[in-house]
Amino acid sequence: MDAFNPLDPQLAIDPYSAYANLRNEEPVHMSALGAYVLTRYEDVATLLSDTETFQHQYVTQQKLRAGPDVEKQPYFDYFRRMIFVSDDPAHRRLRLLVSKAFTIKRVQALRAPAEQIARALMEEKAKARHMDFIHEFTLPFPLRVIGTILGIPEEDHETIGTHATALNPVLEFLPMAPDVLARANSAVELLAEYFTDLAAKRRAEPTDDLFSALVHATEDGDTLSDEELIANAILLYVAGHETTAGGTGLALHSLHKNPEQWRLLKENPERIPAAIEEVLRYDTPGQGTARVATKETEFSGVHIPEGSILLGYIGAANRDPEVFPEPNRLNLERDFKKLPRPLTFGGGAHMCIGRLLAMQEFEVALSLLCTEYPQLEVDEAALEFRPTPLMRGLEHLPVHW
Ligand code: HEM
Repeated sequence: MDAFNPLDPQLAIDPYSAYANLRNEEPVHMSALGAYVLTRYEDVATLLSDTETFQHQYVTQQKLRAGPDVEKQPYFDYFRRMIFVSDDPAHRRLRLLVSKAFTIKRVQALRAPAEQIARALMEEKAKARHMDFIHEFTLPFPLRVIGTILGIPEEDHETIGTHATALNPVLEFLPMAPDVLARANSAVELLAEYFTDLAAKRRAEPTDDLFSALVHATEDGDTLSDEELIANAILLYVAGHETTAGGTGLALHSLHKNPEQWRLLKENPERIPAAIEEVLRYDTPGQGTARVATKETEFSGVHIPEGSILLGYIGAANRDPEVFPEPNRLNLERDFKKLPRPLTFGGGAHMCIGRLLAMQEFEVALSLLCTEYPQLEVDEAALEFRPTPLMRGLEHLPVHW
């Protein structure tokens, strides 16, 4: 079959038929990028959970993507210290320290502020009764929520959010255009300066928020170094808005395309918490992730040499018919108690640390739409997908009510 190109812009609009072809014909496929593409649930789950055989090896991956000089880029110096690309033993240590600060209690305490933020964003458009749901709701909502949990003063949310958004392209497989790269480098330096100042304040005077908790987190006398603290605060800001914003837009899009399911939620809003798993399985914001094979191995009978790059397509795994019956159907009554967990939030040691926060944000947003804006409609003709196949989402989603 033709080599699958992970950078094909068509994938940003509809990746699912290409995944289905691959899964049927060649579930372990050497792609046009020179990396293996995995599309079966079982294979992607193994890639995520076997951290001895499959590692991030961030330096190797970035050199392949951006050339040998990538280490000179300012963004690289921060990103290589982030928990989501680190390997053991560094990962285990970072995960312990970050988990100490990112507690369930802290997430639960954010529910009422999150509801207020969501309501205020919709009310800003009370007179106009229309908005671009992406730019006026799904992006500012998680940015304000993550700003609030980190304890960023409200007047800084917008500036910090703009810098964090400029870092989104770093998370893609796509090579960055020079202007995008320059914006990302400048944003990372501005964010680092901001968090360095804030760390000094929180060190002198601790406050009850996630950033202050990170500043003071200790495990057996160990703490985050200054560089790790700054890099991982930046990561929480980036990881904390990009996927949630993408997912909220995709959720509304999926419900719009499946009006009987949308009606089911509006008539039974108590079903929202249970329905979120399916909404995110059906159309997943984080479509894939990459690892490097640390030794020779095999997937579904295909030999994988040591040093190979493997792309695990979470979006494809979540639609594997061997695991999820009728995978291309949005079925909000799907009973996940009897099924393996979708890989939306990853699996194994790197499983998303913000899962509960993200689920809470979806619950808040969907509950508000179902109960207070049941007449809201999507203007289908003007919607537009983002050009980024890995971080899937919409660029514009006009709605009116
Ligand atoms: C719908 C929303 C979200 C999705 C789909 C998502 C997805 C994921 C996935 C797939 C991974 C694992 C990646 C891998 O193994 O290569 C991950 C890790 C991570 N996520 Fe999320 N995420 C979401 C929201 C959030 C939020 C709200 C935060 C923080 C505020 C967050 C912070 C993180 C961090 C720090 C990691 C790295 C954990 C580690 O490596 O130990 N995510 N996420």
